[in-house]
Amino acid sequence: MPIEPIRLTQTVKGSGCAAKLAPGDLARALCGLDLPVDPDLIVGIDKADDAGVYRISDDLALVQTIDFFPPMVDDPYSFGQIAAANALSDIYAMGGIPKTAMNVVAFPAKTLDMSILRTIIEGGLSKMREAGVVLVGGHTVEDSELKYGLSVTGFIHPGRILTKRNLQTGDRLILTKPIGTGIVSTAIKAGLADQSLTDRVTQAMATLNRDAALTMQDFPVHACTDITGFGFLGHLAEMVVDSGHGVRITAAHVPMYPEALEWAAMGLIPAGAYNNRNFRGSFVNFGTTVTQRVQDVLFDPQTSGGLLIAVAATEAERLVHALHASGIESAAIVGEVIAEPVDRIIVA
Ligand code: CO
Ligand code: CO
Ligand code: CO
Repeated sequence: MPIEPIRLTQTVKGSGCAAKLAPGDLARALCGLDLPVDPDLIVGIDKADDAGVYRISDDLALVQTIDFFPPMVDDPYSFGQIAAANALSDIYAMGGIPKTAMNVVAFPAKTLDMSILRTIIEGGLSKMREAGVVLVGGHTVEDSELKYGLSVTGFIHPGRILTKRNLQTGDRLILTKPIGTGIVSTAIKAGLADQSLTDRVTQAMATLNRDAALTMQDFPVHACTDITGFGFLGHLAEMVVDSGHGVRITAAHVPMYPEALEWAAMGLIPAGAYNNRNFRGSFVNFGTTVTQRVQDVLFDPQTSGGLLIAVAATEAERLVHALHASGIESAAIVGEVIAEPVDRIIVA
């Protein structure tokens, strides 16, 4: 299953938190808490970025993140690969290089054979090897629902941190992987997807964002994030809301699985897509030519999705070609940053 935002019904009292945060925003649990202050904490919880960053020296900082979730594919090895690629992605989205990882495991030992866990971890290890990451430990608890992921630590230069903020008028937005994997995963579970599509989507979710991250290093990138559970428009909203800028997206340029569009038209849409629309839909203006099915795919929750990169307009074409040259064939310019209307996403 794709990662779906949790629905909370309880209201957090005090601190004026509720006004800024939607019911599904887990930041509510932390809002208004008295957090330790440290001048070397460059990106902390208050910034709500892909990963946290802590300065060690003038030219070295640690970048840290954790992600784990239940399986969205049947094959344990593929699930391990996807979970690891997804966890590593937050380091890449910040412009960091992952170095060490720890397994995070919840396992129903009474009902599942331990060999399944071993295969999941083997899948994870294959991605760690590919990323040049060393496994330093981990923690396993017994739980009724299987979950797996990684806590990852990487290195980053304190002066070269990419966050979701810092959009600049004229920037072009580049997306590196097709969207629609949440809908396709739902179709796979319903037995509607053929093996070739299942293999392609599994492969895409297991693909590291490393090559995209390495490629963008040589370009004037102003902001970056990765597309996961909040979907393309949800993660884009995190970049745009309170940025003082707007964005214009050309829906026809956003890479999508064509099958996802067909299934969306049939109503085969994961609950997370509706949650994402409820959460961020008020920031989005859809043009009359943008069909319902396209809107649904734009809100579809992704697992281990691509990077969304804001780059100076003059270098955008060159970056897309460089991404293609490094094997990221789906990479495309999907929109641009505009001066007005501020804090809004226009989809045409
Ligand atoms: Co992220
Ligand atoms: Co994450
Ligand atoms: Co980031």
